[in-house]
Amino acid sequence: MRNDSYEFLDYKVEDEIGILTINREDKLNALNEKVLDELRDFLEFNCKSTIKGLILTGAGEKAFIAGADIKAMTSMDSTEASEFAYKGQQVTFMFEEIRFPVIAAVNGFALGGGCEVALACDFILCSENAVFGLPEVSLGLIPGFGGTQRLTKIVGRNRAKELIYTGRMVKADEACEIGLSLKSLTSKEELIAEAKNIINKASKNSPHAIGVAKFVINRGADINLDEGLKVERDMFGEIFSSYDMKEGTLAFLEKRKAQFKGE
Ligand code: COA
Repeated sequence: MRNDSYEFLDYKVEDEIGILTINREDKLNALNEKVLDELRDFLEFNCKSTIKGLILTGAGEKAFIAGADIKAMTSMDSTEASEFAYKGQQVTFMFEEIRFPVIAAVNGFALGGGCEVALACDFILCSENAVFGLPEVSLGLIPGFGGTQRLTKIVGRNRAKELIYTGRMVKADEACEIGLSLKSLTSKEELIAEAKNIINKASKNSPHAIGVAKFVINRGADINLDEGLKVERDMFGEIFSSYDMKEGTLAFLEKRKAQFKGE
């Protein structure tokens, strides 16, 4: 599957910003194998680095993604379930590793796998009707697309345990209070506009430096402080051989606007 036409994904580029919409609205954009396959294909072949950033959202007003497809999961055996989780983990990992900014624009329900996909983006912005949750234990399951790991890193171990044990729904205001979402906006239009605004602001800076900063922050989340500081100083050194670093510092001294190339 290596083409631009997907059954469950819509993709457009506006002002050099990619907007990827999960479009399975009748099932609240729930993630079945096909949606995951399409996401993997998109991230591998069609998510070009010529854009300034990527916004991920869900079709309609009601849901970002209401979770992994529960109906599909009922017929899986252990091997199939662990392969399904692996596929979901690959997709979340691919979102996390993209070198440019990736923002989850959460409109409505972001439950289970939907919340987990959002957690893999650089950060989350949400609309006032957003509802987050990892309700898997209410189905006799556990989160399997990275939620036990990423939620813990983002909101802390104790809060993550409380949310996962109870499976309770978290509305927009609370999501912002606990650091799950950065900001809540009144409508879906405002949500997309704010995500574009942040990507546009970032795009005035060196895309190469942003990519390196993202890499160092992501690595640092998985290792101890000493190792994280080593990654930071190694990359700090390496960036001195980039065009953008030379251009950025020279432009400052020459009192002009830097012309970055992203290399
Ligand atoms: N997997 C598969 N189908 C899903 C789904 C999911 N995670 N979430 C919603 N759907 C489907 C529903 O089955 C329904 O399909 P149908 O019209 O063929 O019956 C359709 O989407 C609309 O959902 P519905 O439940 O009728 O909407 P609602 O407004 O009454 O409730 C939710 C919305 C989100 C509260 C409810 O759909 C829900 O609890 N979904 C499951 C959330 C979840 O547990 N996710 C984690 C999965 S691990």
